[in-house]
Amino acid sequence: MQSRSGLPVPDESALAHSVRVADLVRARLADAGGWISFADYMDLVLYAPGLGYYSAGAQKFGPAGDFVTAPGLGSIFARCLARVAGDVLDQLGGGIVLEVGGGTGALAADLLDALRPHPPRQYLLLELSADLRDRQRARLAAQVPDLLDRVQWLDRLPAEPLTGVLIANEVLDALPVERFTMQDGKPRQLGVSLRIGEFSWSTVAAPAALEAEIRAIERDIGSRLPDGYSSEVSLRQPAWLDALAAALGQGLALFTDYGYSRREYYHPQRTDGTLACHYRHHWHADPFFLPGLQDITAWVDFSAAARAASAAGFSVAAYTTQAHFLLASGILQEMATDATGDRAPAPAMAAELRQLLMPGEMGERFKLLALGRDFVPAGELTMRDMRAGL
Ligand SMILES: C[S@@+](CC[C@H](N)C(=O)[O-])C[C@H]1O[C@@H](n2cnc3c(N)ncnc32)[C@H](O)[C@@H]1O
Repeated sequence: MQSRSGLPVPDESALAHSVRVADLVRARLADAGGWISFADYMDLVLYAPGLGYYSAGAQKFGPAGDFVTAPGLGSIFARCLARVAGDVLDQLGGGIVLEVGGGTGALAADLLDALRPHPPRQYLLLELSADLRDRQRARLAAQVPDLLDRVQWLDRLPAEPLTGVLIANEVLDALPVERFTMQDGKPRQLGVSLRIGEFSWSTVAAPAALEAEIRAIERDIGSRLPDGYSSEVSLRQPAWLDALAAALGQGLALFTDYGYSRREYYHPQRTDGTLACHYRHHWHADPFFLPGLQDITAWVDFSAAARAASAAGFSVAAYTTQAHFLLASGILQEMATDATGDRAPAPAMAAELRQLLMPGEMGERFKLLALGRDFVPAGELTMRDMRAGL
């Protein structure tokens, strides 16, 4: 197992857990003849039942965890989403909210709290992690006990199409991605093998689907990717969006995440992609460090997501920065309410707004992709329509 100077040292039980996760990867490598794709590695270390980073009991979210997401900063993000969700549900004449990957339950609790006068018929939480389900239930029971009977947990998407609003904050970036590198004008697939007992990058010729996607990227950006250029591609995203389109019969799906349009993502200067690992609020780019104890993510190619969504039967209702989305959906009105009420002391509110809105924080790096399914929202979702750049 690799160590990294400057990063906090895990305790013994966390280290033992990481050894079990590494053993699982080694067993998979042995079964597969010594090499697995990076997407398979990412899938194992994040989602292996009972062992993966998201499936097991690590703290993950908040100051004592590895990273903070928008719902963990305070309630304003959820209240803005509640305004949009409330409008969509009114327009539809009622419906459900389906949240995919509910984290600590903060978004669900704050959103239901904000919608209290006209709550959705049901609030469905698609959550694969038993540990996170427990945390979500505790948070909801403490904050919205009167609405708990409307909350239902799912371990797969519902078979019958739903009407309502689908929300996925920082989920697209958590889907396992493939890594590739260009060599002699051809893409090579980067995967994982063992070198002197340690996990290590190694390449094979890119399979047809990966090569086709990389050639499509080159066509879209109007130039060949140079030798030595490495990056990621989310080959699993189209099937996932297909499944979401089948689950949402009518309504609006809202995805917030960090990412770029394709031209920005595969910019000539971004020579090593966007893969990022988060461990106790430290950022680095080594996915083999402490498997199972750190988050691994890749930024979202929103052009690819929008294209796959359109093929799945969604229409792209909005693509914009998180700041422009929150401004259009009432963050200033929510702020004014807080300033006159006793909800948050001013310094905490200022910090929350800075994080959500500033370009160097989440304001510009994070985007909103809104997808309509047999539905066109009546209200404005953004003050800056960026769909033409996709
Ligand atoms: C970075 S966390 C974000 C959690 C939460 N939405 C938030 O904003 O705090 C990513 C979440 O996506 C979930 N996730 C990833 N792939 C998923 C899938 N295919 N179906 C459902 N949830 C998934 C993970 O389990 C994890 O809870």
